[in-house]
Amino acid sequence: MKDIVVIILAAGKGLRMKSSIPKVLHKLCGRPLIDYLIVLVRQLSIKKVITVIGHNHEMVRDYLKGKSEVIRQRKLLGTADAVLTTKGKLGDFQGDILVIYGDTPLLRPSTVRRLIARHRKTKADCSILTAVANVPFGLGRIIRDDKNRIIEIAEERDASTAQRAIREVNSGVYLFDCPRIFDILKNVSADNRKKELYLTDVVSLLSGQKARIESVSAPEDEILGINSKKELARAREIMQDRILNRLMKKGVTILDCRATYIDDRVRIGRDSIIYPYTFIEGEVKIGRECRIGPFARIKEQTKIANKVEIGNFVEVVRSDVRELAKIKHHSYIGDCVVKSKVNIGAGTIVANFDGKQKNQTVIGEGALIGSGTVLVAPVKIGKEAVTGAGCVVTAGRDVPPHTKVVGVPARILRKSKKAERGGNREG
Ligand code: UD1
Ligand code: MG
Repeated sequence: MKDIVVIILAAGKGLRMKSSIPKVLHKLCGRPLIDYLIVLVRQLSIKKVITVIGHNHEMVRDYLKGKSEVIRQRKLLGTADAVLTTKGKLGDFQGDILVIYGDTPLLRPSTVRRLIARHRKTKADCSILTAVANVPFGLGRIIRDDKNRIIEIAEERDASTAQRAIREVNSGVYLFDCPRIFDILKNVSADNRKKELYLTDVVSLLSGQKARIESVSAPEDEILGINSKKELARAREIMQDRILNRLMKKGVTILDCRATYIDDRVRIGRDSIIYPYTFIEGEVKIGRECRIGPFARIKEQTKIANKVEIGNFVEVVRSDVRELAKIKHHSYIGDCVVKSKVNIGAGTIVANFDGKQKNQTVIGEGALIGSGTVLVAPVKIGKEAVTGAGCVVTAGRDVPPHTKVVGVPARILRKSKKAERGGNREG
């Protein structure tokens, strides 16, 4: 089988985003757009990937470290020039080149696999992933001859009125033969309204050489290219739908899909229930039979074990919440280990930030944290200890196991008999 190399184009200015962040680093359900393509390439088991960077190249290069080879397009002359930039990196490579645009994160690997399979089966010189769009505005139109062969791609600005009526559009995913593509690219001119070197012009040049051009059709929602904040919001809707469907398939109950915001890297166990207006962001793992929300926010690097309850207006971040813990109302839990069977009363706040750094809090097994407690980190609350309502436990003033503390700052009110006997020293 022929060798294959992927080229991801990510050098463009992304002007329509009206942003100082490079377009491909905008986040979609918790991951930068470009990350979806890097993962896609990995799923296709393609080893060699070159990403073309340009605008704000330092930021994109930093992000891609260890993920993709990069090459800088010095002058952003257009998509044809971007592909041409990779020539040096490819040396005497002979095989297929799969070009993908960095702003199309909704592509599925199965679709790209179909394109590769057709390209190889038909021994085409070029294959294009197309789609039939309800609203083709802004996209390149696929122009076919009377034998249904693709002869050209007409960009919106340069298309005639008749061409604009065509709903079959270009996705920006193509397979080309290397080294042939580089000979053709040399002949692309900037003779168009935008004065850019269009990769799409390669198609009419190939057609003129009687090359075989094939296509595969993708569902419209997979080829959405993100050029504006509006398209980013549309992509989020589609991606969110996919994420929630995946979770529901695994046995998670989601009460209202339109009012639930869950990032792509979130894992949730079966029979957990997610109530509306809940946000789960970043890398978060939630176990089985948990009840989360309504109005909860669970943020990055949080692990929640089985049978945990996290209720309304609770924020949890970088924390480890163990089995059967309950944090049911109006709390902030940051950088915290909440051991099993802990019950955290309404309005409890972990003061984890001292102005310079974030500090750790550990709440021992079965501890009962009274409503309105403030735990100033770093601090440890012992096993089965109790804090009275409204008390403030200050940094470093650890509460021994089986001990009840009250007041501001919290002072020992009484020790249980167990604590007097030496108790369990574990925090
Ligand atoms: C492009 C296609 C259009 C297609 C659509 C699908 C061209 C000329 N047009 O339009 O036919 O329907 O995608 O989404 O290809 N880039 C570079 N260097 C450059 C210019 C762009 O690397 O000099 C990169 C961009 O970062 C982007 C990609 O190429 O990831 C596509 O560029 P973009 O400006 O988004 O093209 P579209 O107008 O969306
Ligand atoms: Mg685009």
